[in-house]
Amino acid sequence: MSETNQNGAMVKFYRGNNIPLELHKVRVVQKLHLNPIEDRLRALREAGFNSFLLKTKDTFLDMLTDSGCNAMSDRQTAAMMIADDAYAGSQSYDRMEAKVLELFGKQFILPVHQGRAAENIISRAFIQPGDHIPMNYHFTTTKAHIELNGGTIHEIYTDEALKIKSDHPFKGNMDIEKLKTVINEFGAEGIPFIRLEASTNLIGGQPFSMKNMRQVREVANKAGIMIVLDASLIGENAWFIKQRESEYHHKGMGAIIREMSDLSDLVYFSARKLSSSRGGIICTAREDLYDQMRDMVPLFEGFLTYGGMSVREIEAMAVGLEETLDNHMICQSPSFIDYFVRKVDGLGIPVVTPGGALGAHIDAGSFLSHIPQTQYPAGALVSAFYLISGIRGMERGTVSSVRLDDGSDLPADIELMRLAFPRRVFTLSQIEYAIDRLCWLYENRQLVGGLEWEKEPKVLRFFVGRLKPIGDWPERLMAKFRSDFGESL
Ligand code: F0G
Repeated sequence: MSETNQNGAMVKFYRGNNIPLELHKVRVVQKLHLNPIEDRLRALREAGFNSFLLKTKDTFLDMLTDSGCNAMSDRQTAAMMIADDAYAGSQSYDRMEAKVLELFGKQFILPVHQGRAAENIISRAFIQPGDHIPMNYHFTTTKAHIELNGGTIHEIYTDEALKIKSDHPFKGNMDIEKLKTVINEFGAEGIPFIRLEASTNLIGGQPFSMKNMRQVREVANKAGIMIVLDASLIGENAWFIKQRESEYHHKGMGAIIREMSDLSDLVYFSARKLSSSRGGIICTAREDLYDQMRDMVPLFEGFLTYGGMSVREIEAMAVGLEETLDNHMICQSPSFIDYFVRKVDGLGIPVVTPGGALGAHIDAGSFLSHIPQTQYPAGALVSAFYLISGIRGMERGTVSSVRLDDGSDLPADIELMRLAFPRRVFTLSQIEYAIDRLCWLYENRQLVGGLEWEKEPKVLRFFVGRLKPIGDWPERLMAKFRSDFGESL
């Protein structure tokens, strides 16, 4: 993996020290609020120490997610002005459908309002109670929908996947031998599909290789099982394939994406991630699969030519899909992540390596090794980091997991604080600020304590659950911040 290839615009700097170079300019801006730490503590308390409940007026850099908050291009906003309002048969839908067909080569297309709506429909259509669904790794909403329909997930990742420090280029790969074992154990008739997630979100945005995908296809063919591809982050996965898999260096993004689609029976994605607007799509080249899903779109989403999306969003999606083929655009977020990860790693702060897609992932388990998993180190780190920086990250650890029937927490495999890098949103100086504050927090990590539940919802508890600090650590951390930074924000 060469430095130059990781550089945003693939431009080599004369004096070395390559930094990501943006091939876009900023023409519309939004004012941000960096409030005093005392105000941030108040906001954190009001939000029940859950970053999902913070408000953007209290947030400086919003690194919660890239979903629905990637920067839009001038062409996307322009396209929104020509949207064709119609309940049925809108031309906006036709334009989007043509782009989906062009990218994925699948002619049976269903629109939905976002990714989890696709998961709802796919799970209802294909999963029977008692079924088993092998996947490279779960995503929260995917798992919830599969389990709601009586299915059980099986995560078939390689030994490398959960290693925090690694230089493996494809930590999102499926372990082929383990996949065969699962198929032998449950039989192909109990497995409606194998799910592959591009740029596997919850293990740090890590891609799988095309070679691995071909191997999964071979196993699936032998067993007669279909493959469902979660393509929400397919652009980045394709870009990593182009960078890291030698036989793809010279292939275009379009050819790589098409090959991934051709290896799948059914593709779905959250357009909030893929094309920086709203919405989602399910597509397939198999009419029988389409027929099993189609009637659920008018039932749960909206008519077949809008699926719960506004026509403006549909127009932005069409242009966004086309722009996914531009590797200067698609590499912007991975390049910034790579820059951040290398620097943070160099400072000795535990971070998932190599840098992947959608965000940088700090290993909260080692960062706050004095906090047991039962006191949610990743949740504590997100709260502490917001308090001392105004930066909102996302907990991706045991808070994002579930409670078992016996009342105990299912501990997460890894405790991560995700700092998302929405495409083309932040500047390098803002990223330097994030690194600086993270470094200070690392040096003062012993001051951070754990969290406990105040109000815990039963389903997807991390979204709206409320927690509270164990002890008065936020006040003590704030006092240390004031003594080190004086009146500074
Ligand atoms: N699949 C993947 C891989 C995702 O990352 C997401 C959403 C979904 C499905 C669900 O899509 O939000 O449109 O309903 N990921 C967001 C995130 C929430 O912040 O990572 P959705």
